[in-house]
Amino acid sequence: MAKFNVYITRLIPPEGIDLLRETCNVEINPEDRPLTREELLKSVKGRDGVISLLTDRIDGEVMDAARGVKGFANYAVGYDNIVVPEATKRKLPVSNTPGVLTEATADMAWALLFAVSRRVVESDQYMRTGKWGGWGPLQFIGGDVTGRTLGVVGAGRIGTAMALKSKGFAMKVLYTDEIANPVLDRELGAKKVPFEELLRESDYVSIHVPLMESTRHLFNARVFSRMKPTAYLINTSRGPVVNEAELVEALKKNVIAGAGLDVYEYEPKMVPGLAELVNVVVTPHTASATQETRTNMSIKAATNLLAMLKGERPPNCINPEIYG
Ligand code: DGY
Repeated sequence: MAKFNVYITRLIPPEGIDLLRETCNVEINPEDRPLTREELLKSVKGRDGVISLLTDRIDGEVMDAARGVKGFANYAVGYDNIVVPEATKRKLPVSNTPGVLTEATADMAWALLFAVSRRVVESDQYMRTGKWGGWGPLQFIGGDVTGRTLGVVGAGRIGTAMALKSKGFAMKVLYTDEIANPVLDRELGAKKVPFEELLRESDYVSIHVPLMESTRHLFNARVFSRMKPTAYLINTSRGPVVNEAELVEALKKNVIAGAGLDVYEYEPKMVPGLAELVNVVVTPHTASATQETRTNMSIKAATNLLAMLKGERPPNCINPEIYG
C-alpha cells in the first residue's frame, strides 16, 4: 500500500515522528525556524496530512495550496493560528493537543508569578554583575504571595490547574468564566466574580483565556487602571489578549506593580520599551517546554493526524461538525 505523505512544518520531538513513519513518508522543515509564507505554501502542496505549529498561519490560501490534504494537526492546544471556519467550509478536520500541557503551562504561570513578585531575575543580574555589597534591609523588596488574592481569568483546564496549585500558598481565589467551575468552588472555595471585581480585588491576575475576537486586547489601559497598583499580571495564554504597548505604559507609570509574560502580541518581537523595564519577567513562549510535555504533544499531534489520514475523526477534533 502506498504510504501517506506527511509534512511537519518544524522539527518536533521524535516520538510522534516515529509513530507517523510507521505508515507515512514524513518530510520536515529542515531549518530551525518557522517557514516563510512562500515556503509554507510550497511545502504543503501534494501532502496527505500536515502537522502545523502555532507560528504557521493556516488559512484558506494554505488549505487550497494543500489541495487533497486530509487535515491539519496543530502542535499546540491554542489554534488561533488556524482559520477554522475555512477548514470547516472545506470539510477539513483540524486538531489540537489539549490536556498534555496543562500542568506544565500552569507551572510556568507560577514560575513567572514568583519570578516577578520576588524580583528573581533582577536579583540574579545584581549578583552576577558583582553589585551586591552585602545584606540590606531594603534590598529587593517584593510582593507577598501567601495569603494574597489570585484572580484567574478563564477557568478552563490550564486556569483550573493554575488555581489549584495556589493551595499551598493559602490564597483566596477569584475567577471569571462563562460558567461556574465546580472543582475550584469545591477544592478552594473559589468565587466566580465579574471581571471588574476580579481586577479590583486581585493581587495577582493570571490570564488563561484563548485568543478570540472577544479576548483580543481584553487587557488594556482601562483594565490596568482598574487593578491594584500593587498587583501583578501573568500571561501564559496568547500575547494579543494584552495590549502590549498599553501594558508598557502602565508598568512605566506604576499603574500596576509588574508583569510576568511568556507570550507577546507580535511574537517573536516585544513592543518597544518592554525589555527595558525592570518590573517585567519575560520568557520566550516556553510554558509547555518540558521534556514530557513536548513529547506528549508530539504523540498527540501524530495520533490525531493518523486518524485523519485513515478518514476517521481525530480524538482532538476542533471542528467535529464536519462529520455531522
Ligand atoms: C499551546 O500549546 O498553545 C502553547 O502555547 C504552546 O506552548
